[in-house]
Amino acid sequence: MKRTFLSVVLLLMFALCFTACSSGTPSDTSSLSSSKQESAAESETGTSSVSEEPEEESSEPAEESNILIAYFSHSGNTKAAAEQIAALTGGTLAEIERVEEYGDLEAEAEAEILNGDRPEITVDTDNISDYDIVFVGYPIWWDEAPAMISTFLANNDFAGKTIVPFCTSASDDIENSLHIFNELCPNATIAEGIRANNEAKIEPWLQGLGIIE
Ligand SMILES: Cc1cc2nc3c(=O)[nH]c(=O)nc-3n(C[C@H](O)[C@H](O)[C@H](O)COP(=O)(O)O)c2cc1C
Repeated sequence: MKRTFLSVVLLLMFALCFTACSSGTPSDTSSLSSSKQESAAESETGTSSVSEEPEEESSEPAEESNILIAYFSHSGNTKAAAEQIAALTGGTLAEIERVEEYGDLEAEAEAEILNGDRPEITVDTDNISDYDIVFVGYPIWWDEAPAMISTFLANNDFAGKTIVPFCTSASDDIENSLHIFNELCPNATIAEGIRANNEAKIEPWLQGLGIIE
């Protein structure tokens, strides 16, 4: 009888202990806190296997692959400005060239601007449609953009894109040359342009446009 009572008590104690040990509360808490620790570690190290792919995608600024810097440069000044813009933005350079070389540069360049000519050009890029932001650089000629720039604007579809004009010049500002952008690209956004002779002004200008931080 005494033995049976002891057996029953032992059985009850065992049953109680088993219930307490297998209760979800303690193990749930530890797994929550460990998952919190994992999350904290992941956010510090960026090693989450679940979020690895999206993080890789978002860590690459969209602008890097979205920016084209197209320019025409006769004697190198605008090219230097274009290269500085490319270095600051990570954009891709594309040189615009006139297919036919000028004979009498001054006379021919002025005449084709006044006539609204569109001289044939080559552009050193595969596909302008891949880019959302297109810088367009040129020297000021006769207070205007060279006629090759009109060819470039007229030959491509800039609808929905942002065009960012820049120029270099001996003295004239960019303002009088800008009318062609609205005339030839009515469905593009034309950002505030700059006369980019002073290289110290280029970075603040890009920051002001929100293209770089
Ligand atoms: C045909 C021609 C016309 C020019 N007309 C002007 C002008 O009207 N106003 C001005 O400030 N500079 C004028 N310039 C000077 C250029 O705009 C300046 O030297 C520019 O920085 C040259 O850029 P590039 O080296 O990229 O060709 C002219 C230059 C040339 C060759």
